[in-house]
Amino acid sequence: MSQTTQSWGSRIGLILAMAGNAVGLGNFLRFPVQAVQNGGGAFIIPYLVSFLLMGIPLLWVEWSMGRYGGKFGSHSTPFILDSMSKKRWWKYIGVFAIFTNLGIISYYTYIESWTLTYTIKSLSGAFSGIGREEVAGMFDTYVGINGTLTDDILGINLPVWAIVAFLATLCLNIYILSKGLSGGIEKVAKIAMPMLLVFGVFLAIRAITLGDTNIDGCDTCNTHAGLDFLWNPQFDSLSNPKVWLAAAGQIFFTLSVGMGTIQCYAAYLKPKEDIALNAMTAGWTNAFVEIVLGASIVIPISVGYMGLDWVMENAGFMMAFKTMPYLFNQWQPFIAALSGLAWFGLLFIAGITSSLAMGTPWMGFVEDEFGWKRNKSAIILGLIVLVMALPPIVFYEYGVFDEYDYWTGTVALVVFALAEVILFAWVFGMDKGWKEITGGADIKVPLFYRFIIKWVTPFFILIIFISSLIKPMDGNMSDWAVAFSQLFSEGSWPWANDSIIAQIFHLNEDLKWFAADGPTAMFFKDLSRFVLVATFVGLAIMVKIASNRRKRKLTTPKILEE
Ligand code: TRP
Repeated sequence: MSQTTQSWGSRIGLILAMAGNAVGLGNFLRFPVQAVQNGGGAFIIPYLVSFLLMGIPLLWVEWSMGRYGGKFGSHSTPFILDSMSKKRWWKYIGVFAIFTNLGIISYYTYIESWTLTYTIKSLSGAFSGIGREEVAGMFDTYVGINGTLTDDILGINLPVWAIVAFLATLCLNIYILSKGLSGGIEKVAKIAMPMLLVFGVFLAIRAITLGDTNIDGCDTCNTHAGLDFLWNPQFDSLSNPKVWLAAAGQIFFTLSVGMGTIQCYAAYLKPKEDIALNAMTAGWTNAFVEIVLGASIVIPISVGYMGLDWVMENAGFMMAFKTMPYLFNQWQPFIAALSGLAWFGLLFIAGITSSLAMGTPWMGFVEDEFGWKRNKSAIILGLIVLVMALPPIVFYEYGVFDEYDYWTGTVALVVFALAEVILFAWVFGMDKGWKEITGGADIKVPLFYRFIIKWVTPFFILIIFISSLIKPMDGNMSDWAVAFSQLFSEGSWPWANDSIIAQIFHLNEDLKWFAADGPTAMFFKDLSRFVLVATFVGLAIMVKIASNRRKRKLTTPKILEE
């Protein structure tokens, strides 16, 4: 176990670091797109219900699990889980929460590096006076897609600048991680989070005050039409399982729950330190940044110039890079440059405070269990991320990126969250659990949350998991009805392509690895799965070794006594 246990420097530092962990690219890029794709205002109610019944309970559960494990000197999920039950296999469930982070960090730091490049480009005026097509084309060239790469190295086309920026971003992350919690992450959060708010508020005010842009032949080219669309609650979505699934998925991703990072941060709390209020402060800060700022920037500004229909058809997170710089161009040069800086700078800050968090479960694990120094832990993390990130970078065009996002950013967190809430409420037990949540609390936690954590949250997650497993067609209510009648009449099930079962077994897909012109997308898909499975297995073996070391440590003194 670690000889030099670290801790947070101050309460405000802890809260900003936790808020930085949660506030990320998800708030500004993923949320608005999810909202648009799920009917705008129709999304917001399932989103808020998921936040209250699943997000908040998971925050309390994860914070208290972390603080509890920290009392025993454990700062990584395998051994935090291990401290909560006598059964030995829980620690292997804990592997999920290091695995998820390694998977996500590999593609997340890549996007983060785009934001760095784009900040610099905005400042250097690279976008000024350029048309929409050209701005979009610049992105393709940058990441090397759509046949834009011409000079190949060793027969592979490499997006050289994107790789250089990625390496720089990775090194920066590794450097900060090597400085530890209070000396690295906390310091960064204290400067970065206020800056993020300033940038965000600036852009939101621009969007809200812009209003009608008077573009000929476009009635909806008004930022208020965008805000209206996102903000007008529609109750009909309540009966749409598809919207619920998307909303719950967004809650997971944006709060960073089900991933072990919160446990890891919380493991460095002092035993009597407050959890209840701190967790709420970080959680609501994230919600504010997401619902208010996240919804007020990219969608309204795009609607302002491109109209509502265009946005509904083209919403995707690429809009941030392919469209926004062009839209800023519609403003005076100085404001345009400032807005580019604010937008990409904001994304970079949001990204880095999250990617740092993703690095900590690994750091805590190897420092605790193998006694590695911080520098060594950080450098080895950097090498692992480098290897894992190569497939999504080099084979971006083949959907490797999406494969990582699907397994680590969508599926694994639900599995882990289900397991941890069962462990907490049913194995560890709600009596002890409630004591952990309320111990040292600076607010009174409403008693009904005891019931929610024990019954509602586990069922909620279970239903989400089962419906993602067997999702039929598009996942709408009518699709489920058709699916069940087909099941009873024909004995078959119309799997959705993105249902977990269809993904695992490659249903509805062409299995060929090679075609006349080289490897197929399926080849790269399976390659990325191999990388992910190998990572999981590697981590599980490390946990096994660590657990043997712990046993040896426990038994040696006894042998000596005899
Ligand atoms: N919550 C982050 C966001 O909104 C993303 C994220 C996913 C994350 N997994 C994480 C952050 C793990 C920290 C740790 O973008």
